[in-house]
Amino acid sequence: MSKRIFIGVAWPYVNGQLHVGHMGGYLIPADICARFHRLRGHQVLMVSGSDCHGTPITLEADRRGISPAAVVDLYHPRHRQLFKLYGISFDLYTKTTTANHRRVVQKIFIQLAENGYITTQKTNQYYSPQQKRFLPDRYVEGTCPHCGYKQARGDQCDQCGRILAEGELKNPHSKIDNRPVVLRPSEHYYLDLPKFKSFLQKYVANRGPHWRRWVYQETKGWLKKGLEPRSISRDIDWGIPIPVKKLPPKLQIKGAGHKRLYVWFEAVIGYLSASIEWGHKTKKWQNFWYGGKGLEHYYFMGKDNLVFHTLFWPAQLHGSDPKLHLPDYPVINHFLNLEGRQFSKSRGVIVGAKEAAEKYGAEALRFYLTFIAPETGDSSFGWANFFDVYNNILIGTLGNFINRSLHLAQQSRQRPEPSAKILRLAGAHIKKARRHLEICRPRLYLQDILDLAASGNRYLNQKEPWKEDPSSEKFAQIMSDALLLVLAIQLLLLPLLPKTAAKMAKMTGLTIDYWPDRAGDLLKESLPKIRLGKIQPLFKKLEIKH
Ligand code: MF3
Ligand code: ZN
Repeated sequence: MSKRIFIGVAWPYVNGQLHVGHMGGYLIPADICARFHRLRGHQVLMVSGSDCHGTPITLEADRRGISPAAVVDLYHPRHRQLFKLYGISFDLYTKTTTANHRRVVQKIFIQLAENGYITTQKTNQYYSPQQKRFLPDRYVEGTCPHCGYKQARGDQCDQCGRILAEGELKNPHSKIDNRPVVLRPSEHYYLDLPKFKSFLQKYVANRGPHWRRWVYQETKGWLKKGLEPRSISRDIDWGIPIPVKKLPPKLQIKGAGHKRLYVWFEAVIGYLSASIEWGHKTKKWQNFWYGGKGLEHYYFMGKDNLVFHTLFWPAQLHGSDPKLHLPDYPVINHFLNLEGRQFSKSRGVIVGAKEAAEKYGAEALRFYLTFIAPETGDSSFGWANFFDVYNNILIGTLGNFINRSLHLAQQSRQRPEPSAKILRLAGAHIKKARRHLEICRPRLYLQDILDLAASGNRYLNQKEPWKEDPSSEKFAQIMSDALLLVLAIQLLLLPLLPKTAAKMAKMTGLTIDYWPDRAGDLLKESLPKIRLGKIQPLFKKLEIKH
C-alpha cells in the first residue's frame, strides 16, 4: 500500500557555515530516509528551511555590524548550495522570514489563544541599564546555579544542559559589554503547557513504535517533572510580531506591539507553513497533514532539539487544530565530535561541510558520516579514521567486489538463473536492510550493504571463477550469482550514495528505480537485461589533503 510520508528536517540557524556534524547528525539521515521511501513507491514530502530569527542570528549581525536580514541573505543561499552539493533532496527548502510563514504562525497563535491555551504573565527580564534595553537570553552570561559553569547562557547551561529561568543565573552580565545586567518587569505571553498534560501523556504512551528508547525516557522525564507554562514572546524587534489586533481584550498587554514571538515557538510551525508553501495552490499539502491512515510523520534532528519536537510541537499542533497529524517518529541523534572534542567554531575545532565535500567529494562524506552516525551515543569524526575506512572498507570491500565481478562477468554472455542459495542470501540481506531504514537507522543499513559485499567477496574467493573456462556453464553460473549481488548493492546504494548507484547503473546498463516488497524477484528478472558498459572503478583512493 502506498503511504504518504512527511519528513520534517530541523531548521538550521542561518547564522554561519554548517559543519559536518549538521550533515551527519540529521540532514543526511533525513535524505536517506526520503530517498528510501520514494524508492518504495510512497509519496514523500520533505521540507525544511532556514531558522532566521532568534538571538543566534542577531548575535552574528552584531558581530559583523550588519542587519539580521543581511545575515539571512548572506547564509541562506549558501546553505541551499550546500544541500545541493550533498544531494539533500528537499521538496522545499524555505525560510522563516517569508510572508507565508508569518501568516501561518500568527494564525496558529490566534487559534491557540481562542482555544484557551495562551496566558499572560508578569515577569522579570534581564535589562541592560547601559544600553537601555532588554537583553535576550543569549546576550546574558553568568554562573550556572546547578553545576557552577561560568559561561552559562541566560536560558540554558551548555555544560549540564539544564534550562534556566530568568533570574536563576548567578552574577549575570551582558555578553556585549560585560557589564552587570538587572531584572526588570515585562509582561509576556505563555503557552499553557499544564493544560496539555493529559493529552501529552496519552500521546507519549501511544507513541509510534520506532521511538528510540532514550528519546522516550528523556521525554517521559520531562513529563514526570511536570510541565510549566512556557513563555513564547520576547522583548526584541527581530522576529514575528504578535498579531495584536486579533487578540481578545483579556490578552492585550502593554507594549505587545514591540514584542516578538519566541523563535522556538514559531520555527517549529515552519514544518506546517513550508508544507503549505509547497502545495498551497493544489491544496496537496492537506494530504500530508490530515487523515491518519497511510500517513506517517518523521522528524530528524540533533538531541538539543528533543523536547521541542516530542512535547512542545505536538502540544502546539493539538492546541490549534486537533485534526492536524502529530509527529510519529522523532529521529534524534546524539552529537558528533571532532577527534573526540566538541565542535567549536571559536576554538577552531571544525570541519566545514562545504570544504570537506569540495576536497573529498560529497559521496565520500555521505558514506563516512553514515558509517560513524551518532545513532546510539556520541561519536567522533576522525581524519585518519576517515581515510582508513574509506580506502579499506568502502573501496577494499565494496568497490572491490563490484569491480572484480563486473570485470569477470564481461567474459561471458550467458546469464543462467542465479542459484537458490544466492537468491536467498540477497533476499535476506535486502529485507534486513529495508527494516533498518524503516526504523531510520542508516548506520545499520550501511553495515548491511558492506556485509553483503563481504559475502560476495567470500563467494568469489571460494568459487575462484578466474580458474574456470569463461565459456563454461560453471563460469556463467558463478557470474549470474555475482551479478545478482551487484544488482542488490546497486539497489541498496540508491538512498545512501545516489551518485555511486547511478554510476553502477551505467556500468550494468540497468536502471533500478523501484524497491518492491519482493525485491529479490525484481533483481532476478532484471538479470538477463544487464548490458555491461565500460567498467570503471567506482571510487578513487583518497589522498590526505589537509
Ligand atoms: N534552529 C534550531 C537549531 O539549530 C533548530 C530548529 S528546528 C525547528 O537548533 F523545529 F524549529 F524547526
Ligand atoms: Zn550547568
